[in-house]
Amino acid sequence: MTITHPGTAPSRTTTESGVELDLTPLSGSIGTVIENIDVRDLDDATVAAIRQVWLSRKVIFFRNQHLTPTEHIAFAARFGEPTEGHPVIPAIKDHPQVFEIDYSRSRELYQSYGDVSTSDRSVSWHTDVTFVRRPPVGSILRAVVVPQSGGDTLFSDQQAAFEALSPSLRDYLRTLTAVHDGKAQFKGILDHVGEGKWEGETFTDLAPVEHPVVRTHPETGAEVLFVNPGFTSHISQLSRAESNALLGFLYAHAVQDRFVVRYHWGQGDLGFWDNRATQHSVVGDFDEQHRVIQRVTLRGDEPR
Ligand SMILES: [Fe+2]
Repeated sequence: MTITHPGTAPSRTTTESGVELDLTPLSGSIGTVIENIDVRDLDDATVAAIRQVWLSRKVIFFRNQHLTPTEHIAFAARFGEPTEGHPVIPAIKDHPQVFEIDYSRSRELYQSYGDVSTSDRSVSWHTDVTFVRRPPVGSILRAVVVPQSGGDTLFSDQQAAFEALSPSLRDYLRTLTAVHDGKAQFKGILDHVGEGKWEGETFTDLAPVEHPVVRTHPETGAEVLFVNPGFTSHISQLSRAESNALLGFLYAHAVQDRFVVRYHWGQGDLGFWDNRATQHSVVGDFDEQHRVIQRVTLRGDEPR
């Protein structure tokens, strides 16, 4: 597949159906705002054009959309198959595909499950749900309540991060696999709710999974660094000390400013990231201010 790169300057592109998309890039390699569009009403050619921008820029944003949960799910369904909202954390009422994080409640919630680690806002770089065999293709986040200040999200380009490594290290990383384990964050909650569900299958235990350290993006063919401090526990072929040292280097390397875009949310904004090629992290600087987001994820494939 040929990916059209929209470039790093603001531009306008016209879809085959005559819809004009105004593209405002937010950084050199990652992140573009698509302006002047109502995502409730997209024809097939516009969906295809948006998908190209998404693949190329890895995260896209639509301002001021104010979708309902039903509209949020409908938008997601234009780009793939929505999954359960989360494998372990219960979805919002009446919408099993919508996972909500209300940060003012989450600390209390996680502590009630005996899992304080998840409420620590200091380190939160991760790729969504990599602790299952088929992590989501992408996630679509809706900003429901935005704090008066702070609460931005950072996204890091894991293709650019991989390409910036020296050729010898890239060769070595291609030979490795890593274990991803959701237990540290979610075992307490799973035990509390009894069972989890993902892709229609229920489970009572979070069995660790193994993924390649470098995956080949199934749509773009790009190689992408695919480890994250949220869920990767260790590299299978190394001793723990070696694994900790190498992962520590990769985690720091992968989120350098040159690979990162920072997005300041407005209420009603929508962010849609390629979960195969990015990590993201909330900026935990909003103290006790109210911040609520809702997320819909798209069914993925096995990383290769
Ligand atoms: Fe996330």
